[in-house]
Amino acid sequence: MTVERDQQRSAKVEIRPAELADAEVIAAIYNEGIAGRQATFETEPRTGADFTGLIQSERFPLLVAKKDRAVVGWAGISSYSTRQAYAGVTELSIYVAGHAQGRGVGRRLIDALATEAEKRGFHKIIGKLFPTNTASLRLLERAGFLEVGMHRKHARLDGSWRDVVVLELLLGDALPRD
Ligand SMILES: CC(C)(COP(=O)(O)OP(=O)(O)OC[C@H]1O[C@@H](n2cnc3c(N)ncnc32)[C@H](O)[C@@H]1OP(=O)(O)O)[C@@H](O)C(=O)NCCC(=O)NCCS
Repeated sequence: MTVERDQQRSAKVEIRPAELADAEVIAAIYNEGIAGRQATFETEPRTGADFTGLIQSERFPLLVAKKDRAVVGWAGISSYSTRQAYAGVTELSIYVAGHAQGRGVGRRLIDALATEAEKRGFHKIIGKLFPTNTASLRLLERAGFLEVGMHRKHARLDGSWRDVVVLELLLGDALPRD
């Protein structure tokens, strides 16, 4: 993929902070991810109300991608641990509507989110994915995340054990200097 083609396919994508009016579409996109059984251990659909706290969070950014005047994806970070030592570590969620996938929206979202997280002083974003989620793995690797390990049989989804691969992106003063 050349830089020029990359720019063309994502040229009409606007990334902006989520607003309360986006809550329902954010939930709908998340619910697609739940139904696909490749993104999360969650199995119960969410409503817009479940996202209002995240949207209003002062600490954690939640961004949406708008294409052709519709919100088609979102990405956010959330708490990794309540321990003070890990205050700079955060966890990623990213979801793009099925009809908008494969067009650079995810990459635009993840790059903007990393910039915003770094600005807010986070030094690491952790991504946890099912190893079978090839689109997410590719997206995160292309965005600079490194695979650091595998949780084996991390939890059950629909009664079956699932492994979880862990990737991380270092930011700010945690970036290697050499
Ligand atoms: C993972 C996801 C966010 C990717 O978003 P997207 O907008 O489709 O991704 P992009 O178009 O920006 O593609 C990013 C890279 O992944 C690759 N990719 C996208 N879909 C792919 C697929 N189905 N299989 C393999 N690679 C894929 C792209 O080719 C691109 O790599 P490239 O730059 O080398 O060409 C999207 O597929 C999604 O929402 N999936 C369901 C939810 C989910 O799994 N979320 C992650 C868990 S939090």
